Amino acid sequence: MDEQYSIIAIYRVYSTMNSRKKTKKGEKLVKWARHNMPVLRYAGQKLLKSQILESKKISISLSITPETANLVLALSKSGAEVSLCASHPDAVNEDVASYLREKHHFPVLGKKGVNKKTFEKNQKTVLIQKPDIIIDDGGELVEIMHRQNGKNFDNVIGAAEQTTTGVVKANKLEKSQKLQFPIIAVNNNQTKNMFDNRYGTGQSTLDALMRTTNILLAGKNIIVCGYGWCGRGLAIRAKGMGANVTVCEVDHVKALEAHMDGFRVEKLEKAIQSADVVISITGNINVISKKHINAAKDGVILAQSGHSDVEIDKKMLKRMATKVENVRKSVNEYTIGKKRIYLVANGAVLNLSAADGNSPSVMDMSFAGQIFALDYLVRNQSRLENSVYHLPSEIDDKIAKLKLKSRNISIDSLTSEQREYLGRS
Ligand code: NAI
Repeated sequence: MDEQYSIIAIYRVYSTMNSRKKTKKGEKLVKWARHNMPVLRYAGQKLLKSQILESKKISISLSITPETANLVLALSKSGAEVSLCASHPDAVNEDVASYLREKHHFPVLGKKGVNKKTFEKNQKTVLIQKPDIIIDDGGELVEIMHRQNGKNFDNVIGAAEQTTTGVVKANKLEKSQKLQFPIIAVNNNQTKNMFDNRYGTGQSTLDALMRTTNILLAGKNIIVCGYGWCGRGLAIRAKGMGANVTVCEVDHVKALEAHMDGFRVEKLEKAIQSADVVISITGNINVISKKHINAAKDGVILAQSGHSDVEIDKKMLKRMATKVENVRKSVNEYTIGKKRIYLVANGAVLNLSAADGNSPSVMDMSFAGQIFALDYLVRNQSRLENSVYHLPSEIDDKIAKLKLKSRNISIDSLTSEQREYLGRS
């Protein structure tokens, strides 16, 4: 009862931040995104027909964006009881949050710029409903549940994980035999990481860099740390805008791939000496550390677009600086000796905290993947073990087919002779 009171109490606090103006604006943003999410609309209709999520309690941690609102609305329409919190302290569109609270009465917990303590409290609070299913983005809800030593595991059918970092954490839990329920790695759908991570994050990260700094990319020396799905998307887009792009990697195959794709490949400590901008997008910790800050040239701009704010050693940067000054919205200047270093969005996830996140058109596929994952979890719950699962490739095929159809693109199909030649049934 106390716990029940607590989710309502926190929800009420956030509800005081609603306003008719915000709600109206949020509604328009959600509608705009919906137009560009045909696959999600289809998946939502299927879900509604199947009634498979009827009365299921779903706790969700995702960026609070117009695209997420469309996912939440589809789940709720199909009978699920949803509660939503932000997956990053800054990843909150307050107009959208206001719309979801005021028009739909969902518990939506999040406000741009809350401190870490409030952010974590919100994440714990969405779990109070004792969820049947979790949608996580970066593994934080799953982590909280595992820290609570099984207190809330009774109902849990499983979780669906949205991003690379969350899948890394889930794999670690599985390896140490501590995982307490199945997790579907939605991030590993081809129709997720090849599109959302690459095209979506590549574009929206640059968008955020331009919005915050207003720099001209043409002719600039830009370093991309990490040549995974996100890094590839970012590097190719920066190149397309006329930047000289250098890739820094720790994986030999990825480094070779970057080299063959036409990028300069170097050690960060060397490359940073002539870099105008460094963006880390690895999912790893302290990628930009003291030695890199020491080697950097005056005026370098640092940013990161991986899952959490750990890729730049911010504590070290602060310790090394004699002065820190806010010079533009979302840009702080650190003075170190005669050198100035600029940190964008306080080192938080760049595209989510300083721009609109990824476009509806890519989140369409990611979130349709989430719906298919929940459907798969519920249908297969009796046989799934406490492991990390990838969705069958037919689901990827289905999502891709629907996306192509929405663009009026038809493709060829194999003849029976070709099928036989390729050994396919
Ligand atoms: P990935 O696993 O495909 O690529 C990461 C790359 O970073 C790997 O090639 C790895 O070798 C490299 N790397 C690791 N440590 C490094 C270091 N110290 N220096 C240089 N390279 C290093 O992962 P993906 O999918 O590209 O995701 C990267 C991060 O971005 C994750 O944290 C993920 O959760 C996050 N992400 C962020 C999104 C956003 O909207 N901002 C969207 C999707 C993912």
